Parts: sequence; C-alpha cells; structure tokens
Amino acid sequence: MQNIIIIGATSAMAREVAKLYAKEKANLYLIARDTSRLDIIKQDLVVRGANTIHTAHFDANQFDSHQVLIDQAFDALSRVDVLLVAYGSLPNQELCQTNSMKAIEELNTNGISVISLLTYAATKMEQQKSGNITVITSVAGDRGRQSNYVYGAAKGMVSTYLQGLAQRLSKSGVHVLDIKPGFVDTPMTAEFDKGVLWAKPEKVALIIKKRISNKVTFSYTPAFWFVIMTIIKIVPKVIFNKVKL
Ligand SMILES: NC(=O)c1ccc[n+]([C@@H]2O[C@H](COP(=O)([O-])OP(=O)(O)OC[C@H]3O[C@@H](n4cnc5c(N)ncnc54)[C@H](OP(=O)(O)O)[C@@H]3O)[C@@H](O)[C@H]2O)c1
Repeated sequence: MQNIIIIGATSAMAREVAKLYAKEKANLYLIARDTSRLDIIKQDLVVRGANTIHTAHFDANQFDSHQVLIDQAFDALSRVDVLLVAYGSLPNQELCQTNSMKAIEELNTNGISVISLLTYAATKMEQQKSGNITVITSVAGDRGRQSNYVYGAAKGMVSTYLQGLAQRLSKSGVHVLDIKPGFVDTPMTAEFDKGVLWAKPEKVALIIKKRISNKVTFSYTPAFWFVIMTIIKIVPKVIFNKVKL
C-alpha cells in the first residue's frame, strides 16, 4: 500500500492523480489552501477507495509554516512513497511588469515556496533512502516569452533546482521527477480558448502516475510538447524577438 503526500491537492491535476492512487487503496496526505474544497475532495476519495486520508491547510507564501507542515506529513505516514507538488498560480503578466511586489509574490508562489518546501522534504526522503518527489512545473520555464515570463522564470528556476536535486538524491535511491505540462484545461486556464494542443487533467494524471512508476526524471506532458519546445528553444533570438508568443 502506497503512502502519498500531495501539496496543492485542490488543483485539478492533483485531484485526478489522487483519484488514481485512491483506486489502489493508497494512504493519502492532502495539503491545500482551501480546506472546505479539500473536505469535499476527501469525501470523494474515500468513496473511490483510499485507505486513509489526512488533510492539512497551507498557504504557499507562509514560509515559516513549511518545516512543520513537512514534518507532520512525514510523521503521519512514517514512510513516504510519493510527494507531489501541484499548486501554482498564473500571474497577470502585465501587472507584474509594473508592480514589483506582484512579481515577487508570483515568483514566491510558483518558485521560491516550492524550493522552500522541498528543502525540508528532500532531507526527509534522503534519510528514508527511498521514494519519489514529483513537481509540476511548466513548458513556460523552457524559454522566456513576453506573454508569461514572470511565471516562466519561476517554473524554470524550479526545473533547474530539480535537476540538481535529482542528481543529489539519486545517491540515496530517491527518484525526482519534473513534470512539464503544456496547455491543460483546468480552472487556472478557464478563460483561454481551447484547441487541439489542450489536454484534460485526467490524461495528464495518467501520464504523471506512469512516469512516477517508470522512474523517468522529466516529462513533457503530453509528450508532443517535447517537439514543440525543441522548436521554440532553437528559434534564433533575432526571429524570436519579432514574434508575439
Ligand atoms: N493548466 C495549465 O495549462 C498548466 C500548464 C502548465 C503547468 N501548470 C501547472 O500545473 C499545476 C497545477 O495547476 P492546475 O492547472 O491544476 O490549476 P488549478 O486547478 O487552478 O490549481 C491551482 C492550485 O494552486 C493552488 N494555489 C495557488 N496559489 C496558492 C497559494 N499561495 N498557496 C497554496 N495553494 C495555492 C490553488 O489553490 P486554491 O484552490 O486555494 O485556489 C489550486 O489548488 C500548477 O503548478 C500550474 O502552474 C498548469
């Protein structure tokens, strides 16, 4: 029976991942900001077969709560098989360009807070000498684009951090996975027009769980984003700077 921690458990993608583990009778430790939604999600996961479910409240930007939050989660489960970090916010890029406090808040939510939580979680995993740490970052972290480069900077920072963490923790038998989704139809992107490049959170969740089982270290999700991002990354700056993306 697997023991799973999900930070940002009210996210649409996280919720779908939790359903898959509930079906396998896992023990779930769900952490989220909106505790009333978390209670509803908990009821649903009980019906779907979860063995035990703990819940805890957190706000990513309350940094002084992070160590206790991680300690309590690891204590409750004794051994952690998977830690999934799934929260994030899509900033108003234009506002971030004129208001540094907003830019800093978004960098904290999408970047620094993740690193802060992983600082404590990674040490616990290292001591336990097993387990998986999976973080949902984004293709936006691969190359800064004018439409969302504050968000992209935060996600890129986390991806770079995960590369180093993966190298460090591989010596202790801990697997680190960076999930880089493209466009996913969730509340975060509710206002966007949807097209062929869009994936449903149910599909992304299946990919995440498979990548965890297969011990892959990073994954464009769905996989066709590898091709798109390879092209975007090699477009010469002189052309790139002339287009609006
Ligand atoms: N959707 C996409 O197209 C897409 C693409 C690439 C990457 N991603 C990434 O995928 C992950 C999951 O997002 P999603 O698409 O599933 O969106 P979502 O359903 O809107 O979930 C976002 C989650 O982040 C939480 N959150 C935001 N700010 C927080 C804070 N300060 N403290 C604690 N929790 C906070 C939200 O909590 P509340 O419920 O309390 O608001 C919500 O649970 C995020 O990291 C996102 O950046 C999404």
